[in-house]
Amino acid sequence: MRESPASLACLALAFVALAASAQDARKSGSQFMGESTRAMQRDDTQNPGMLWVANGEAAWNAGAKNSCASCHGDAKTSMRGVAARFPAFDKGAGRVITLGQRIEQCRVGKQGRPASKPDTDELLALQSYIALQSRGMPVAPPRDAGTRAAAERGRQLFGQRIGQLNMSCAQCHDANWGRKLAGATIPQGHANAYPIYRLEWQGMGSLQRRLRNCMTGVRAAVPPPDARELVDLEAWLALRAEGMPMESPGVRP
Ligand code: HEC
Ligand code: HEC
Repeated sequence: MRESPASLACLALAFVALAASAQDARKSGSQFMGESTRAMQRDDTQNPGMLWVANGEAAWNAGAKNSCASCHGDAKTSMRGVAARFPAFDKGAGRVITLGQRIEQCRVGKQGRPASKPDTDELLALQSYIALQSRGMPVAPPRDAGTRAAAERGRQLFGQRIGQLNMSCAQCHDANWGRKLAGATIPQGHANAYPIYRLEWQGMGSLQRRLRNCMTGVRAAVPPPDARELVDLEAWLALRAEGMPMESPGVRP
């Protein structure tokens, strides 16, 4: 049987509709949480992450002569949209870096301060404060070749089986989201709310801390902080969540 052009057009339309609904099928992690945790994230007066935001604002303004604010001014305007486009290729570094690494570049290079350990409270606070300035804005990973190459490596890692459980990220987050696993609902694994306040941690944590948790969960070796694999995974998660609204600071169980 031969298809008439009209039915082919219908088919094409159906594919477009399917693609659109596949887009809409993306759900933020907050949609998998219980109502009380969602309410905590929604209400800034209840959201413990706002404590880190407040500390971040203080750190932004600290140090009269060479504070972050002395160069960048009001973060509400200068940092608007910045967190939404990290990780990003950095020409100076010659590689893709995370927002945390970008902040560290300024701390060391512009403020002359000693290098910080990853995920210190100060770095998490500054990240939370900067990420808040992108709340509601779409995740917007840069389109340059360097950032895209990292995202492509990250996409491959996402599909690769790892650990003693021999499972890939995709097996949980693409194929089995919505199912229960040891009491937790498996989310789609989007990273649009980081850094997050996690009740289990009793504190703020970075996306890499979350990724380390997932890797440990399948009994895989955990790469050191800011290892290329982790940054590549972050770059893929950003592309995978492109266009979703930023929700930082997120709250998670
Ligand atoms: C065995 C299933 C499983 C595997 C494999 C797994 N995860 Fe997860 N992941 C989870 C569960 C469950 C949670 C949520 C836990 C919770 O909220 O208590 C989660 C949370 C996340 C989140 C946070 C989402 C949010 O809304 O805060 C991200 C991002 C993520 N995973 C990425 C990854 C990556 C990248 C890999 C591969 C390196 C991976 N996961 C492997 C089960 C898995
Ligand atoms: C002496 C001036 C100076 C100080 C102090 C400084 N920065 Fe920067 N910062 C810069 C310059 C210059 C750039 C690069 C601007 C550009 O790329 O357009 C930059 C870039 C950034 C970016 C990336 C912006 C983007 O659009 O990609 C972030 C984030 C940032 N700084 C955070 C901070 C934080 C947080 C502090 C304080 C801990 C700080 N900076 C302190 C000068 C400074």
